[in-house]
Amino acid sequence: MSDAEAQKRAAGEAAAALVEDGMVVGLGTGSTAVWFVKALAARGLDLTCVATSVATAELAASLGLKVAELGETKPIDLTVDGADEIGPGLSLIKGAGGALLREKLVWEASRRCIVIADAAKPVTMLGKFPLPIEVVAFGHKITALRICDALSECDIGAAPRLRMKDGQPVRTDSGNLIYDAACGRIEEPAALAFALKSVTGVVEHGLFLDLADQALIGGAAGVTSLEP
Ligand code: A5P
Repeated sequence: MSDAEAQKRAAGEAAAALVEDGMVVGLGTGSTAVWFVKALAARGLDLTCVATSVATAELAASLGLKVAELGETKPIDLTVDGADEIGPGLSLIKGAGGALLREKLVWEASRRCIVIADAAKPVTMLGKFPLPIEVVAFGHKITALRICDALSECDIGAAPRLRMKDGQPVRTDSGNLIYDAACGRIEEPAALAFALKSVTGVVEHGLFLDLADQALIGGAAGVTSLEP
């Protein structure tokens, strides 16, 4: 196992140790969240889980976890999920796995959110990792032009690229498309978040601001806990 994978595993296991019997738990998406889901299932607690993607729901169910729809449970006590970048104040870029919309819906419905990651994820400024932006398919090329305008308003010169796989546009679990914007530096994440959400056709973006309550970061010396 690579160092990064071992760090993801350690972070996932540390988060799973924080879950208590009877909780409603939000399950993230991605390679780090997989370690959390596996460690959580191994604890054998009586839990109800809400998944942030079809892939995570299938994994959780296969491991014997009870999975319910968002909104069909008591309030979510704790959500644990990965991230692509962790910036100042636990601001995040998420969405490399294409689950950003469902992730944000679950995060915003949670009393507490913990982000888990390997040591490569913390950064001093968000933006090196391309920012995922989920858009409706209808008229998406026009939406992409308007996203360009929104980025320009924030002094970001990136041209968003339609995410492709095997020669086809990637579809999210909700049937939408994703554009990735290589912003470089996001000096004012809140302003960019507002500008992007103002574009008709944009469903959601991967900036998760003021949502994470704690980060558990795997590293050479073990797991470090960070707070905003
Ligand atoms: C899924 O859409 C993403 O938000 C993931 O949570 C994020 O990309 C982290 O993934 P890894 O844990 O695989 O790095």
